[in-house]
Amino acid sequence: MVNNRAEKLIREFGLDELPADIFKNLGVDHHYVRRRIIFACRTLEDLETIVYRENKFYALTGIMPSHEKIHLGTAAVIESMKCLQKSAKLTIVLVADLESLATRNIDLETGRKYALNYHIPTYLALGLDPQKTIFYFQSENIDLQKIAFDASKEITLSELEAIYGTITPGRILSAFYQIGDILFPQLVESMLGVIPVGLDQDPHIRLCRDYIKRTRNYDFRPIIGLYITDIPSLRGEGKMSKSDPYSAIFIPEEDENFLRRKIYRAFSGGAPSLEEQRKRGANLEIDVPFQLLRFLLPDDNELKRIAEEYGSGKMISGEVKEYLYNFLKEYMKELKEKIEQYREIVNKREILIVHSKDELKQYL
Ligand code: TRP
Repeated sequence: MVNNRAEKLIREFGLDELPADIFKNLGVDHHYVRRRIIFACRTLEDLETIVYRENKFYALTGIMPSHEKIHLGTAAVIESMKCLQKSAKLTIVLVADLESLATRNIDLETGRKYALNYHIPTYLALGLDPQKTIFYFQSENIDLQKIAFDASKEITLSELEAIYGTITPGRILSAFYQIGDILFPQLVESMLGVIPVGLDQDPHIRLCRDYIKRTRNYDFRPIIGLYITDIPSLRGEGKMSKSDPYSAIFIPEEDENFLRRKIYRAFSGGAPSLEEQRKRGANLEIDVPFQLLRFLLPDDNELKRIAEEYGSGKMISGEVKEYLYNFLKEYMKELKEKIEQYREIVNKREILIVHSKDELKQYL
């Protein structure tokens, strides 16, 4: 069963819960799936078409190059893509540079620099396969606009208002381009798509699914939103945010002392006094360091040990924070080296970047 918070979101948003073994048929066994970090989808029926009938799909997601570095929340999206990559026919991670321009005021040149120097090298350092992962920049992909403009005549202003509350021209353009992104692979082959995202992207998924049903100019297959639990802010409320350095852990964190300080300030589910911590144990559901370990530690037995000891008061919150700090110190060290190696590879353009559907064809 999924936890209470996930259950509430599933009900509120009208999502489908993921059956425990749904991905087994695709050969996917990952701690994100086992622990329900990937907790829901829209819709299960379409996902089942992939898993039990067609066995063929593409995995696609998009990330804005709005800051130099990514944080653990974005890393969770990449980890989910990694998990699907083994069985996906195409894996695409697009750089949403037009969206960053329109909604975050990041000019294209800056977005490009962030993407080539940090984002793409980091995605590869995190384990996406450089031989199989296809990238593109929204601003360079000449085929997105065809879908975006077709979608623009199928979707009404009041639908957009219902989605955004206050709409702005920049958000409207970005929404239509996102539909272009999500369906782009289908310009070369008709197949279903799986789109791992945070829950904040659900409106786009719904919009895109509606458009697929309405358009007469294309014969698009359904796409499935796969929802990843938000990484909690270190502050304990809301999710990690790039614009608040005390809420987020970046990749990489350059300064170990600052990293340590942030972790020690993180919101804890332990009781205020040592005596009470020993007696009552910690509330793991709200304990941020423990929740981060759920995302980061692949070893189920180790996580279970910590959960038991911390939950029963045998371990105290300072010890869990120290554990997390030591884990992250190593994690950052390894990633930093890899990011540097991949940066050179990216600079030599020894990666797969496409600009159109015709270029995408060769990777099928
Ligand atoms: N809108 C997404 C964000 O805010 C970025 C994005 C653009 C995206 N195109 C996409 C996500 C296609 C998933 C699929 O971060």
